[in-house]
Amino acid sequence: MDNSYGLLKGKKGIIFGALDKNSIAWKTAERIYKEGGRFVLTNLSLAIRFGTLNELAKKCESNVIPADATRVEDLENLIQKSTEILGGKLDFILHSPAMSTNIRKDRSYADLNYDWFMKTLDVSALSFHKVMQVIEKQDAMNEWGSILAISYIAAQRAFPGYSDMAEAKAMLESIARSFGYRFAKNKNVRVNTISQSPTKTTAASGINLFDVFYEYADKMSPLGNADHEDFANYAIMMFSDFTRKVTMQNLMNDGGFSSSGITEDFIKYIKADENVKESKKTIEIQK
Ligand SMILES: NC(=O)c1ccc[n+]([C@@H]2O[C@H](COP(=O)([O-])OP(=O)(O)OC[C@H]3O[C@@H](n4cnc5c(N)ncnc54)[C@H](O)[C@@H]3O)[C@@H](O)[C@H]2O)c1
Repeated sequence: MDNSYGLLKGKKGIIFGALDKNSIAWKTAERIYKEGGRFVLTNLSLAIRFGTLNELAKKCESNVIPADATRVEDLENLIQKSTEILGGKLDFILHSPAMSTNIRKDRSYADLNYDWFMKTLDVSALSFHKVMQVIEKQDAMNEWGSILAISYIAAQRAFPGYSDMAEAKAMLESIARSFGYRFAKNKNVRVNTISQSPTKTTAASGINLFDVFYEYADKMSPLGNADHEDFANYAIMMFSDFTRKVTMQNLMNDGGFSSSGITEDFIKYIKADENVKESKKTIEIQK
């Protein structure tokens, strides 16, 4: 979809977690810019140094402010500076930090390192609360603003391999509801999560058997997996004035996956002998 509608003209925000061109936040930033939104980009200092965020910043006329989303002092600085740079309060926030060392280091679910587990929760869920708490304390959000985080269906269903990130996503969605209630009452600000199909990004590539997750979800979704661009399109709608009364929701952007029992595409895939053999091979290799 190449059209732009000026949906976000005059709106200002902060976008977390664009690391490289494959990041969901990267594509979303480009789409927001095209719709007239202006924003500050943020990520870990290390990610800025080794990633390509400055390239995106140049393209979108944005400033980059480093912040570790788990550190309240960093968030205080980020939010205060962003309102100064953008010349006023914020209209939208895209939260997208996520990280699990247990997944990265391939720890079994029954042999988790609990310090890493706490870190997973802090980076991938609690940071969402911290961002909103700082915003509320600084009164940095405009009325009828919109705050979004990105979730995954493993918050509701068991997906072996997604490990402690499943708990983080469940917490993330709960924080969206609890803070959403508060922000709605105090400021008419809405808070939601979008539950996204498996999408090929750097974070996803660390998940064991991600290719199988991806293929399975694609075949089980009547519309196919939602990709980066589909997420970006949903996000601009959620940041626009057309969704003012949508709040405290976990919104499925999954091509129908979450409502499908079985699909003809999946049956065909399973029936094709060579696919079954191939996937058995992959599983045996990974054991
Ligand atoms: N890719 C998928 O299949 C998929 C599916 C559903 C949901 N999501 C979610 O989408 C979001 C974006 O992930 P992505 O897939 O685009 O991957 P990504 O690797 O591009 O983005 C993750 C980002 O988190 C940042 N980050 C890590 N620790 C941080 C910290 N302490 N402070 C600030 N930033 C930190 C990383 O630098 C990176 O930019 C995540 O919440 C992820 O769980 C992804």
